[in-house]
Amino acid sequence: MTAEWIRWPANVVARFGGEPLAFGGDYNPEQWDESVWREDVRLMREAGVNLVTVGVFAWSTLQPAPGRWNFGWLDRVLDLLHANDIAVDLATATASPPPWLTTRHPEVLPVDRHGRTMSQGGRQAWSPSSRVFREHSLALVEKLAARYGEHPALALWHVSNELGGHNSRCYGEASAVAFQAWLRERYQDSLDDLNAAWTTAAWSQTYSAWEEIQPPRLTFTDSNPTQMLDFDRFSSDQLREQLRAEIAVLRRITPDVPITTNMVLFDAGKNMDYSSWAADLDLIASDHYLRPTPDAHVELSFSADRARGLSKGDPWLLMETATGATSWRSVNPAKSPGQLRRDVFSHVARGADGICFFQWRAARAGAERFHSAMLPHAGAGSRKFREVAALGADLRSCAGVLGARVVADCALLFSEESWWAAERESHPHNGLSYAESALGWYRSLWKAGVTVDVVPPSADLSGYRLIVVPMLYLVSDRDAAAVAAAADAGATVIVTYFSGIVDPLDRVRLGGYPGAFRELLGVRVEEFAPMTEADSVEIDGVTGPARVSTWHEEIDLTDAVAAARYVGGDFAGAPAITRAARGAGEAWYVGVELDAGARARLLEAIAQRGPEGELEIVTRRSAGDEYVFLINHGDTETTVPGTGTDLLDGSVHEGKITVPAGGVRVVASAR
Ligand code: GAL
Repeated sequence: MTAEWIRWPANVVARFGGEPLAFGGDYNPEQWDESVWREDVRLMREAGVNLVTVGVFAWSTLQPAPGRWNFGWLDRVLDLLHANDIAVDLATATASPPPWLTTRHPEVLPVDRHGRTMSQGGRQAWSPSSRVFREHSLALVEKLAARYGEHPALALWHVSNELGGHNSRCYGEASAVAFQAWLRERYQDSLDDLNAAWTTAAWSQTYSAWEEIQPPRLTFTDSNPTQMLDFDRFSSDQLREQLRAEIAVLRRITPDVPITTNMVLFDAGKNMDYSSWAADLDLIASDHYLRPTPDAHVELSFSADRARGLSKGDPWLLMETATGATSWRSVNPAKSPGQLRRDVFSHVARGADGICFFQWRAARAGAERFHSAMLPHAGAGSRKFREVAALGADLRSCAGVLGARVVADCALLFSEESWWAAERESHPHNGLSYAESALGWYRSLWKAGVTVDVVPPSADLSGYRLIVVPMLYLVSDRDAAAVAAAADAGATVIVTYFSGIVDPLDRVRLGGYPGAFRELLGVRVEEFAPMTEADSVEIDGVTGPARVSTWHEEIDLTDAVAAARYVGGDFAGAPAITRAARGAGEAWYVGVELDAGARARLLEAIAQRGPEGELEIVTRRSAGDEYVFLINHGDTETTVPGTGTDLLDGSVHEGKITVPAGGVRVVASAR
């Protein structure tokens, strides 16, 4: 199968004997003497690198002063890479403006919510609303596209870098003006509509002119939630405008070169509505850095499944991850032996058609000098480099996987808008975390061996056997109806508390909770009953005896039946979990915060799958072949039924597959 998402140069295809999975990383030659470059490419070849991202933070090197351009070094880098059969994902280099720009035009600099202007000296020091930034950055993109559009090494354009990773919210004057313009468009020039939408009658906030409206700057009290929500939307849209503006230049000059940008699909990625960006890209590319927690691999899977959800099931590219430690956490743990390989294969199992790292060569200086890399400070004679080269070889043996699609029959709905709104202040329980709630349910599904598509609520839900809707606080009528339709068509739907509560303007849906899902679930709740840390209550039923904390509520049944009930407390005898038959499917409501054990028992009852231990099994299918990825995160050898040939070590398995502790297998068989 041809990977249409990348324009592999002919020499790369020839060298790899066909189209390979991508393997490489960020390459920052501008930080090194040219004498180092030759060693770089020699070692890249040794490691099997076939794609590097060049120029991410190179603006000040490319344009050291206004009107002065310095492309010679990049010409030589691209030629050298091409001569060594290494393709280039060329960055538009707009991620960080050069000091001359921010000095001459300080209005480019972003302002935080406290009114503090961020200065040069770090990175991403630009306001997404700055027209001056837009103009200068597009001039740079234009130059790069014109100069390198025909370069034979060019495989992919890399717009900016982690757009919004640091500068997603700017509260300065440029942002105020742009916010007003964005609102005028959204509310079709009707201030009355805006006042109604934001319910500005509350707390005397009615606007009499557009110029009075500001970004939600600091206030003594909780701020207007709809103003904040619209500001979130606006901010994400501003970044998308930058993305689109750069894409427009690239498409005009190089219509045949695919384009991507790397999304922040780890901790800090809350601020962008990626579901609204995805359609602009030829390829979804994600960045992922492990959390330093014992089951970090589960969060990794969540991120990978989200990347696949954003790409509508198509393969995607892991644009950045670390071979070992990051350098930006308070403590930056190294990876334990074997972990890098497991992590990489989890991504591939879940649809990545390429694995790239930040970065190729460990920096000697600069803010990231202690970040791990493919080539560590210790040099090529190191365990890390040997592991990296071995990974390159592993990925070469898996070339057949390219383009194969992941098999998943469960969807978990994940909405950036709900994330923003659910974690807003002035809520019944201000300790709830939308992301952790989604991850908690995801974790239980992972442990039960269920492969999950993490998808936006607007996704096509047909064909899913199980749909999990954790804390979908904000939902549109359309998206709520799609969930109900999926149940009708035969899906089992699980909705958890604090879902369906508000409309897209963060206005409470009246008539009882859980608002938009009341009818689907056949329940009605009159009052939330969040619990303080000291509180907990017992429930029993489908979960078995379980103690719940954080949240509970008294559920009235409309036409659902109780699946678990409170054993004590204020609601003793009342339902805590319910089930309603709907068409060919059913709808469950979980009105309490369950712990992992209770969630597992509930899923066992619903999904007919029990805990499967620490063996991760994910299947990808192409037209003719099936690839079963088995990744053993546990410390005991595990055997499961299966037949086929392991692409990694060539072993043949008949009827059963044994995966050593910490081991990885990719077992291929004809379909
Ligand atoms: C990413 C960023 C890279 C590098 C990396 C380090 O967020 O895109 O440039 O800084 O983090 O982990």
